[in-house]
Amino acid sequence: MSVTRESFGFMPDGTEIYKYILENGKGTQAHVLTLGATLQSFITSDKNGEMRDVLLGFDTVEDYLSKSNYQGATVGRYANRIGGASFEINGREYKLTPNEKNVTSLHSAGDFSYNAWKAIVPDADMVEMSYFSPDGSNGFPGNVDVKVVFRLTEDNKLSIKYRGISDKDTYLNFTNHSYFNLNGYSSGDVLSHYLKIDSPFITPVDELSIPQGDPMSVEGTPFDFRKFTKIGDRIEDDHVQLKMTGGYDHNYCLSDSQVPLREVAQSYSEDSVIKMKVLTTLTGKQFYAGNFLKGAEGKNGKPMEKRSGFCLETQFFPDTPHRPDFPSCLFKAGEEYSSETVFAFSCEQE
Ligand code: BGC
Repeated sequence: MSVTRESFGFMPDGTEIYKYILENGKGTQAHVLTLGATLQSFITSDKNGEMRDVLLGFDTVEDYLSKSNYQGATVGRYANRIGGASFEINGREYKLTPNEKNVTSLHSAGDFSYNAWKAIVPDADMVEMSYFSPDGSNGFPGNVDVKVVFRLTEDNKLSIKYRGISDKDTYLNFTNHSYFNLNGYSSGDVLSHYLKIDSPFITPVDELSIPQGDPMSVEGTPFDFRKFTKIGDRIEDDHVQLKMTGGYDHNYCLSDSQVPLREVAQSYSEDSVIKMKVLTTLTGKQFYAGNFLKGAEGKNGKPMEKRSGFCLETQFFPDTPHRPDFPSCLFKAGEEYSSETVFAFSCEQE
């Protein structure tokens, strides 16, 4: 195992951004940027021993700041949406930055994702990123210290461990927003990828993508991925929830509270034979099929077309501040947020 560092450019205020490259004995590499604690590339072997980069991303700081759609980024303080861009804690109302349709708070307006983090290398297989989000940032209460540790193992598992602590009661919900394409970056869409999600319920949404009503059973719907199914098989079905979001963009319910790390999803591609398993401690997972990608030029100038990558964003459910029936992610002052998600890659000929 080794960790090396190189310059990746500069933020508009002159802060230098670094790329940390974690590499194991198989030659698998994870590239992590201090901009947004972003996973920029994950390079792993396909069935022929060729290396493929299975992540969408960009080559420059400018591109990440102007057109990234949160690609590979660490997202917080609150991943996904909060309706009305406001909530109440202890009888006080907090107004957040409404960065979607002027109404909704999405991904906390990029607080974690588009700022420079600090990095240290505690050991030869990991990099630890840290960030300080001040009280009032995008309207959220509390000074928050957050640490994210990326660790690559010899058997091609990438573990991401998150810790966060606030000095005021606040909502904390962190995720990683990688867009995967197991055929390799820029090799067409992901509709032929097989996907399995071990969950019988999604949270249906309204036209602003805010959860509405009770969790919906996936039984008999295009949302049922309890058996391996191609992403593209039913994505255009005439289902009100698919029409609402223009394709899969929904939270799958995993558990009522955090639990020890367990497997929650798998995907594989017949072309590359690369498989990815997702394990998490968290209660929910957003399956987003890259419906809003519009051909922006990414790494090596290659365009990222609609549905050329998919996300499995482990998280607490969207809009929990307004949903006492959802697992809570309200953290008391001084109470630690902690979670782990693992993306485990393998490539075995059947
Ligand atoms: C959301 C999508 C959004 C994407 C990029 C996902 O988490 O669910 O609706 O387009 O992030 O911001």
